[in-house]
Amino acid sequence: MKEEKGLKEEKDMKGDKGMEEEKKQERKKVILSGIQPTGIFTLGNYIGAIRNWGTMQEEYHCAYFVADLHSLTVRQEPAALRRQSLEAFALLLACGIDPEKSLVFIQSHVHSHAELSWILSCYSPFGALSRMTQFKDKSARHADNVNAGLFTYPALMAADILLYQPDYVPVGEDQRQHLEFTRDIVEHFNGIYGNVFRMPEAYIPKTGARVMSLQDPTKKMSKSDTNPNAFITILDEPNVIVNKFRRAVTDSETEVCFREGKDGINNLMTIYSVITGLSFEQIEKDFAGRGYGDFKAEVGDAVAEKLRPIRENFARLMQDKAYLEQQYRKGAEKAAAISERTLAKVKKKVGLLMP
Ligand code: TYM
Repeated sequence: MKEEKGLKEEKDMKGDKGMEEEKKQERKKVILSGIQPTGIFTLGNYIGAIRNWGTMQEEYHCAYFVADLHSLTVRQEPAALRRQSLEAFALLLACGIDPEKSLVFIQSHVHSHAELSWILSCYSPFGALSRMTQFKDKSARHADNVNAGLFTYPALMAADILLYQPDYVPVGEDQRQHLEFTRDIVEHFNGIYGNVFRMPEAYIPKTGARVMSLQDPTKKMSKSDTNPNAFITILDEPNVIVNKFRRAVTDSETEVCFREGKDGINNLMTIYSVITGLSFEQIEKDFAGRGYGDFKAEVGDAVAEKLRPIRENFARLMQDKAYLEQQYRKGAEKAAAISERTLAKVKKKVGLLMP
């Protein structure tokens, strides 16, 4: 009773609008992101995206998924894709995503993704899709298989995102364009049908949003690189990590400093800074007069040490397939319930007769 009166007084003071505003501010923000299961995640995936996912779950409602449908845009070996999807799910948990705190699932287990993707593809301008850098890159790399899925990929990604009405989407720099595309769809769709989708924002880290190849530091580090020395996977053994860093391409100078034109060193400094938490100034000070050899060895050691618990967690999780299955089934069930609400709203808005 007393509480009710207190609430009424508060309402009188602030008015309905003020209370609503406050309630809105109190709403826990929603985070969503995904990753393709096309191989063991790289240090780039970890630094650009996943390392933030675990920390965000303490403060927000988070949803993370294995984007297996996206992987079909490039031809996959079926048994390998199945294995990699399970490994990717285990890797997310090994990186600290806790299924008790976050929603974790596998994209193809939740029908609404493919369904909303079709609807959104009917609102995706051909011109915008053809300007997508990833489409241009991938169709050049896989010229024998330029398929419709590769082209409409951003509509599926928009569906993945919008089904869960997130506030932020934590991704690396290479996904910025897809996020912009999603935002354009929201504007277009909401412009026609009213406030159906929440406008999502990309959350791109200031440092490490684009980790570069260790062999060609003008190119993004990628798990599909044909040269295994170009990337670190988060399951590489410590000696492998140290050796890959030792072989990392740098320049003909000797000074460890972050400067335009020193792509290799800039990349190593970025990695080292994210992994250790040290600023660039501190790193420059610490390595003044010590040369690249020393620096590369320390970057290798620091990365190997950081990834050690992930490797150990992963090995443990893969021993217990029943647990993994139980978790991804639970995730799919929850994801279906959330996403179907948005899907039903969309279907109604666009004029589909409800069953
Ligand atoms: P994917 O699987 O290529 O990469 C997963 C995440 O890792 C980031 N990343 C990098 N960050 C820094 N440096 C790098 N070298 C590097 N390489 C990859 C990516 O930016 C990404 O955040 N289309 C997405 C998967 C996806 C998705 C979504 C993401 C599908 N639906 C909805 C967010 C929301 C992809 O292929 O990411």
